[in-house]
Amino acid sequence: MRGSTAAIGGRTIWSDVSLDVAPGQFIAVLGPNGAGKSTLIKAILGVNSTVAGTVEVLGRPAGQHNARIGYLPQRRAFDASVRIRGIDIVRLGLDGARWGTPLPWLSKLVTPERYRARQQRLREVIELVGAQPYAHRPIGQCSGGEQQRLLIAQALIRRPRLLLLDEPLDSLDVPSQAGISALIRDICRREHVAVVMVAHDVNPILPYLDRLVYVARGQALSGTPAEVITGEKLSALYGIRIEVLRDSTGRLFVVGQPEVPPGHTVADSAVGPTR
Ligand SMILES: Nc1ncnc2c1ncn2[C@@H]1O[C@H](COP(=O)(O)OP(=O)(O)OP(=O)(O)O)[C@@H](O)[C@H]1O
Ligand SMILES: [Mg+2]
Repeated sequence: MRGSTAAIGGRTIWSDVSLDVAPGQFIAVLGPNGAGKSTLIKAILGVNSTVAGTVEVLGRPAGQHNARIGYLPQRRAFDASVRIRGIDIVRLGLDGARWGTPLPWLSKLVTPERYRARQQRLREVIELVGAQPYAHRPIGQCSGGEQQRLLIAQALIRRPRLLLLDEPLDSLDVPSQAGISALIRDICRREHVAVVMVAHDVNPILPYLDRLVYVARGQALSGTPAEVITGEKLSALYGIRIEVLRDSTGRLFVVGQPEVPPGHTVADSAVGPTR
């Protein structure tokens, strides 16, 4: 992205954002609700048109190479009554935009070699996310973390060059957030895929990230954790005091990260405990 500005309904969401993501890199997008994190992901997909600057993906303007992008949208949950098996949800990723119940006999109509290759890739991605124990269960009966892993496998099955994950850690406990982040970093390295992941809480994921982007108050700040995670930079971005602590092993922790509701000024928001 070079000097990009996004607007929805005439309102500027963020402006002058420049960002690079390289193959095999794991980047997180952070920031308060309504700051424009999903808008950033959609700008990379070429869904929301940016009003200024450029967004180039895999050497072409955004939107032209989406078949090579794996995308996990925000807010998806399967009701307990959903009977479709995890493995079939993953297989849907192969069939692109053709939604509906997968018909096993239909996928067998492809040539035997192609069928075998598809089955092989299906097994591969299920193993990659460690979903073998529950892939044959109805997805509605899988836990939140198991569903997330199956959905990551679905986004990966077509060997995307770029993986866009909008809050895949939503509703997971802290150890699971770290576990899924470690898994994503692993996939990133092994499949040499670039990953952009929207997240809410920086601390559990920080050790796994190559770079991060903070979106707040219409601006974005990007860089390596050491460049961006400083009390001075985060305080300036959010307009309220934020502290960064370092433990005995050198790990960084952000304290007092605010959640500014849309329409409120930062002065209205309370700073979290800074003990
Ligand atoms: N289709 C739309 N029409 C009007 N406004 C929209 C639309 N989509 C998003 N917005 C507004 O754009 C702003 C940015 O939205 P976006 O979904 O990118 O935020 P976000 O950072 O992903 O928030 P969250 O953490 O809640 O997911 C918000 O103020 C939102 O209300
Ligand atoms: Mg969002």
